[in-house]
Amino acid sequence: MNKIRSIKGTHDILPEESTKWRNLEKSIHDICAKFGHEEIRTPIFEETRLFARSVGENTDIVSKEMYTWKDKDNTYLTLRPELTASVARSFIQHNMKNKSPIQRLYYMGPLFRRERPQKGRQRQFHQFGVESFGSEYPEQDVEIISIAWHILKECGLKNNIKLYINSIGSIECRIAYKEALQNFLRPHLNMFSETSKHRFRTNPLRILDTKNQDERLLLKEAPQISSYYSEEDLIHFESITRFLNDMGIPFKIDSNLVRGLDYYTRTVFEFTSELVGAQNALIGGGRYDGLIETLGGKNTPGIGFAAGMERFLIAMAKTEGKIRSLKPDAYIICQNADYLSLVIQLSNQLREHGYKIIFDPLRRSMKAQLRDANRSGARYALILGEEEVKNNTINFKDLMENTQKTIPQLNLINFFDNLTN
Ligand code: HAM
Repeated sequence: MNKIRSIKGTHDILPEESTKWRNLEKSIHDICAKFGHEEIRTPIFEETRLFARSVGENTDIVSKEMYTWKDKDNTYLTLRPELTASVARSFIQHNMKNKSPIQRLYYMGPLFRRERPQKGRQRQFHQFGVESFGSEYPEQDVEIISIAWHILKECGLKNNIKLYINSIGSIECRIAYKEALQNFLRPHLNMFSETSKHRFRTNPLRILDTKNQDERLLLKEAPQISSYYSEEDLIHFESITRFLNDMGIPFKIDSNLVRGLDYYTRTVFEFTSELVGAQNALIGGGRYDGLIETLGGKNTPGIGFAAGMERFLIAMAKTEGKIRSLKPDAYIICQNADYLSLVIQLSNQLREHGYKIIFDPLRRSMKAQLRDANRSGARYALILGEEEVKNNTINFKDLMENTQKTIPQLNLINFFDNLTN
């Protein structure tokens, strides 16, 4: 029989990798808590119309990339391709607006998009993200951006990223701008790619982030959305840039940044990193003041971002970003299976004091155990030979420095504490 393999664009996270995942997850939990955000977990699949209505029928995500099926009761269901829509649905469903005027949430988990797999682009991937509902003010935008900034800093990526921001204005501003952009582009349409021609009809703003060099050249002459901002749009955007400067967060304004989801209003932003390769967007986000109403809730402004966790880990591996070691602190080696009861007791005592301890459950020779200790990455080997057991001592071997010392078993915890503090 042919071997069954994982599906294209999906990956197993093996033990050597899962440690890094947990470290990243821990940083996210810690930093979100510092900003008063609480975790929300929503189902992996939702009704298809949730995404069609919020992300937009004409976006790449909804029109090409969703895993959708008709369920036995004839409802169309979809594996979530993003989480903002799900969180917004949950916000409405659970009347969160009535519980508090501001809801600060965050999430992490798997998502599904049927894209062409390549480095940093998968069909099942993971995001963490942050959403805040309730404030229309620019300080809220900057607070969200600074959560991303703190997580990037914690992961050692601060010096390898760029923050691009833009305002795509309010809905009224965009209606006027779309028309102006279409009027400008219409005479040149024949030189545009099929994708851009399609976007011209369905979502002309998306043409602004074309990668085609000829199209980009022409777009330099195109009308700018900033000329269509309302007074409030302008004040909002200027306040954001001022606050970012106040906080010392470096950024660039990119007037072509529009993002590929329909729910955005005003602020959009992306953190990119050259460390990830062609798929260089680490984090994408923006404001979505109309989303809750579009989904049938009471008018509530909102803003958030989401980050690709696989891309984060690729970037972190390149900078050897701060990754807390989960290697064992010590490996207990014993000469003889008669000492196993002692091994188990000592392991548990040490674990209760916070140390990571492993021993050999295969009853191999001492030489093999020592080899395994070195392979495990443990810093110390704690050796129980005949002499040690007779004298109630233990031999403490530093595998890095290659030094050793015999100490009474009673002093083991103290000895360890002194070494590691
Ligand atoms: P997005 O730009 O579609 O935004 O995705 C956010 C991040 O998810 C990207 O910057 C990237 O790091 C990662 N990502 C996207 N697709 C893939 C893929 N196929 N493989 C690996 N990583 C991927 C959103 O999803 C919005 N919901 C963000 C948001 C939250 N806006 C407001 N709140």
